[in-house]
Amino acid sequence: MHGNWRSLEVDRRDLRTTRVVADDLDVTTPGQVLFEVSRFGFSANNVTYASLGDQLGYWNLFPAVGRWGRIPVWGYLRVVSSAVPGVEEGRRAFGLCPMSTHVLLRPGHLGAATFAEESSHRAGLSSVYNVYSWADTDTEPDALLVLRPLFWLSFMLDDYLAQGEPGTGVVVTSASSKAAIGLTWLLSRRGVPVTGLTSAGHAGFVADLGHYDQVLTYDEIQTRPPSGAILVDVAGNAALRERIDRRSGHRLAEIIVAGHTQHGAGPAAPQAGDDRTVSFSAPQRIRQRAADWGWPVLEQRFITALRGFAATASSWLQIERSYGLAGAAAVYRQVLDNTTPPATADVVDLTAQSLGRQQCVTSYAVTFPTCCGSSPPDALTRWLCRPPPVHGTRLPRRGWNQRSSWRSCGDKLLALLVSCAGGDVILTTNGPGPAGHRLGIARARVPD
Ligand SMILES: NC(=O)c1ccc[n+]([C@@H]2O[C@H](COP(=O)([O-])OP(=O)(O)OC[C@H]3O[C@@H](n4cnc5c(N)ncnc54)[C@H](OP(=O)(O)O)[C@@H]3O)[C@@H](O)[C@H]2O)c1
Repeated sequence: MHGNWRSLEVDRRDLRTTRVVADDLDVTTPGQVLFEVSRFGFSANNVTYASLGDQLGYWNLFPAVGRWGRIPVWGYLRVVSSAVPGVEEGRRAFGLCPMSTHVLLRPGHLGAATFAEESSHRAGLSSVYNVYSWADTDTEPDALLVLRPLFWLSFMLDDYLAQGEPGTGVVVTSASSKAAIGLTWLLSRRGVPVTGLTSAGHAGFVADLGHYDQVLTYDEIQTRPPSGAILVDVAGNAALRERIDRRSGHRLAEIIVAGHTQHGAGPAAPQAGDDRTVSFSAPQRIRQRAADWGWPVLEQRFITALRGFAATASSWLQIERSYGLAGAAAVYRQVLDNTTPPATADVVDLTAQSLGRQQCVTSYAVTFPTCCGSSPPDALTRWLCRPPPVHGTRLPRRGWNQRSSWRSCGDKLLALLVSCAGGDVILTTNGPGPAGHRLGIARARVPD
């Protein structure tokens, strides 16, 4: 059995480089099941899987050849063909998948609710990553799909912190991340004062949430954190931790490294000999609590809290749906570059039906020679959208959705577009550009 199976891969040594490759999957091997990947969420969490891929073994989840890697994402899958008795075609599951149209898994320990992925390359990874839940449908709301993996961190951190001194203040970095917001929502319900540290561009958003007692930008860390406060470092930035600790007179009670959103800031892990700093692993804490409480109790408590958080988050969370592997590549690039607004929850839909229905929606990147004045986006958008907008394809204003982004990139202006064009040659511009410059001809090929 052969099909049009493709995967989005990133260069493990240069995360900005991606490619889409054809997969030749052997689906006849006994013990294996071919799944179609239907829908997944994407956030900085997935970029962390890539940036810590070598250190924490995430590249082993879905091995690729040579220097390439497949970033794991949490999403829904559907059985296309099965060489495992008891696993029927059409059955759906939720768990980790690659950004691929299809994936081969080796399900074992088949239960009514779950199965375990038992490929040898997965040995040594936490069971949390290897367990898949059977799902009747994949109609779970997009918001829950995105929040679920992140809120596990929020939920287990809150559980961990609840064991300490009541009322101890908490300082959280990358305060605009969904994991940090979820944690702060939980802490504030217990009356724990929380200071959020964030970048200048996100401070307004974080303050408007109303969950943090205080919001400071990274440049504003002049306020002395209360003695005995706990620092939760979601940014994973050792220099920033040191700065905050110094500011507190080295009187932070504990420093918890819980994420690595600032993947360009060097290693996140605590240095040897630093006994106030610990690395926090949600999977480890999940395993511990599952042993203490039993999985059904843990899961029920988690789901109740997740639904409460999602209900609150509906006032600010904005779902952005993208389609196909090209859409996934565009979303990945924006999250990697930190150009995604913090309110955005990205969902990528790979189902054939959605691609059929939305076949005019696709994402791609085009480079133009630098030619624009002070406000390239507006100028260029206006120019391209005026009739006849482009030669060879129609590009109505609607095609330039909120995701379109513009940056100077060396001597190029990079335009990331979501347009209504399908087919190979997406955009041909050959008229005078904004400010009287010529754009020349830009062509983009949709990788899938
Ligand atoms: N320890 C665990 O077991 C565990 C479990 C789940 C998640 N996590 C971690 O939690 C972190 C947050 O994940 P999330 O999905 O909730 O994130 P998210 O919502 O996508 O976070 C976006 C925010 O992260 C910061 N950020 C993102 N990319 C950045 C970049 N390239 N440079 C600098 N800052 C950047 C920015 O926050 P600011 O401007 O506010 O800094 C941005 O607004 C991830 O590192 C993830 O791996 C850990």
